[in-house]
Amino acid sequence: MDTYSIKKQGYDPESAVDDGNRFLIANGYMGYRGTLEEAGSGSYAAVNLAGVYDQNGDRWREPVNAPNGLFAALNFNGKALSLPGVTPKDHFLSIDYRHGIFERYTDFGEVSLKTERIASLSSPHLLAEKITLNFEKAGKASLTTGISTDIWDINGPHFKDIKCSHEKALLCNALTGEKEILVSVAQEVKSDRGFKETIEERSDGIFRILDFEVKAGEKAEFFLFATVYTSLDLKDPSEAAAALCEESAERGFDLCKKENNTAWDRVLESCSVDIEGCDEAALYMHASLYYLNSIAPRHADNLSIPARGLSGQTYKGAVFWDSEIFLFPMFVYTQPEIARSLLRYRIDTLKGALEKAASYGYRGAFYAWESQEGGIEGCTNFNVVDVFTHRPVRTYFRDKQIHISADIAYAMQKYYDITGDRSLLKEGGAEVILQCARFYLSRANAHADSQKIDFADVIGPDEYHERVTNNAFTNRMVLFCIESALGLSKVFKDSQDYLEDLYDRLDYRKDLELLSDLSKRLERYKEKDGIIEQFDGYFDLEDASLKEVKSKLCNDREYWGGDHGVAGTTRIIKQADVIALMALFPEEFSKDCVKANWDYYEPRTEHGSSLSACMYALTACRIGEPDRAWDFFMKSASIDVKGGGKQWAGEIYIGGTHPASNGGAWMIAVLGFAGLTIKNGRPELNPNLPKQIKRMRFPIYFGGKRLVCDVTREAWSIN
Ligand code: IFM
Repeated sequence: MDTYSIKKQGYDPESAVDDGNRFLIANGYMGYRGTLEEAGSGSYAAVNLAGVYDQNGDRWREPVNAPNGLFAALNFNGKALSLPGVTPKDHFLSIDYRHGIFERYTDFGEVSLKTERIASLSSPHLLAEKITLNFEKAGKASLTTGISTDIWDINGPHFKDIKCSHEKALLCNALTGEKEILVSVAQEVKSDRGFKETIEERSDGIFRILDFEVKAGEKAEFFLFATVYTSLDLKDPSEAAAALCEESAERGFDLCKKENNTAWDRVLESCSVDIEGCDEAALYMHASLYYLNSIAPRHADNLSIPARGLSGQTYKGAVFWDSEIFLFPMFVYTQPEIARSLLRYRIDTLKGALEKAASYGYRGAFYAWESQEGGIEGCTNFNVVDVFTHRPVRTYFRDKQIHISADIAYAMQKYYDITGDRSLLKEGGAEVILQCARFYLSRANAHADSQKIDFADVIGPDEYHERVTNNAFTNRMVLFCIESALGLSKVFKDSQDYLEDLYDRLDYRKDLELLSDLSKRLERYKEKDGIIEQFDGYFDLEDASLKEVKSKLCNDREYWGGDHGVAGTTRIIKQADVIALMALFPEEFSKDCVKANWDYYEPRTEHGSSLSACMYALTACRIGEPDRAWDFFMKSASIDVKGGGKQWAGEIYIGGTHPASNGGAWMIAVLGFAGLTIKNGRPELNPNLPKQIKRMRFPIYFGGKRLVCDVTREAWSIN
């Protein structure tokens, strides 16, 4: 079995949205959905740009999709050969996870079409495609290629002005409405065969119509090159797009592909996890790493990764806690420069976090729950639409999910702990930690009649229970953040001047005292019979089973949370919460305690978030029960291969690829099954392989070196 590719046989127009995610190609700068060459907005065609956002009127702000420079549609003997519209004799889509190559094959009968497409990993502004046509009959063929502006937008349109032109390359310059960002796309075509070219400017873009005659049995090859730059990249994106497009066309598709493949080989050398014993698991692991690596910001040093990667505009293209808690571990252990970029993004968006805190009357940094460029909060007050009334539902994620700041501080600290690199802290990371801790200082609730301090009116990872008090996960993360802030004096013990200056600049000395006091008085968590209560009063809720709660649903897409949701008054939770806490602080809980809590919370968890399974799997490994982790591992790792998952929150589409689940799969394999930990400054493994896995090999980057970890049930080595 080839564990590096998938192939989907047969044409099913209904699965266009899922296939667009599954067959996505991306390179961190942009994501090109796995749609057919002739697809338009109706089939969810989109070239999703990283870090470029726009708001149309009062609709939701979301990332911008560029015009599609790889559009192509075929006509033979006067008949359009486009899907949907004709029934193909044969059709498949495939993706090669080793090198990020999309392939499509369609046999229309008289003509077959094969395409191969890359979003170059070595040249991030470049998309390239090879089209091979095989003609069974003689006739007149016409291939329309060009830049199509008929692209999928959820809350668009985002361009207030589109101008097309052509010199050598076709050019499309589109200007966004809100911030007037210029998005320039250029397109070139090469072919060894002769054709007559007519340029056509239409309301939906600019196209070349390539007319040629063929004999029966003839083959024709065309190579398309499309480049994208924006005015956020440089001053004249249009000139840059045209220049790179022409240069790439001159160099040719094969060379561009070779360079792309070499770049991918290097990435896999740094992080591939090879599983022996179960080919299906090996495939899903390779797929997860592909989906995650393809959206890593390698072209920048201060970008993070949105919750649905570069698969579209779902979740407003925003960065969530997913980045720090679910994606960061894979990167910090394999490609620390990318982990650094995720955190630099938080350093650069500190201003947004300070402003958000101030807007609620707090001090310090309250990071956006759904962070866009500059730390702009993308999360709205009404983030879900009710399926019955079609009215927006008031949600409190934005206001109350305060653990976000601590999650960021947690990753900032772990970056230092794991890499030993202090420079990120000096470049602003220390300030982020201090400002996050300060936020908690001003957000804490002190009881006038006791020494107790708690956090009321919050939302933990389980979003079905809003506005609760003393969420165990939140309180522990806050404590970690405060301890990190206080611990900076140890980290910088040899350069106290630096820290003294920072304290002076932030006027922080009084806060240090208050933080030290808070850390002692903060309510940690309450236990009953060894079970940690998720929040105050959780045990008083109705103890209905998942089945009972599910049976109350009147609509598949109904939202379980909020005021009227079926879960809110029960102990049914959306995703790992206490178990997430145990996964992040493994040294604090005994095996018996984790086991008891696992047995208690798992049956009460809907796993309605793709972030849930990996936390249960990780903790199952830590209690020495990897076989319990297996189904959760397969679920996390296969999510984007299989498609599906939860696609709707009320009436809001939330589908796309699932980077957190991909990162979660790596965490289960490496931190769970192999049991990677750092002890006394050295990596070591504590294997916990499930019965399906015989051996696992994977690299890590530690202490300035690449080391290869090798694990079997009986032995392990790190060399
Ligand atoms: O960050 C998550 C959240 O925990 C659950 N809803 C989806 C978000 C994005 O993945």
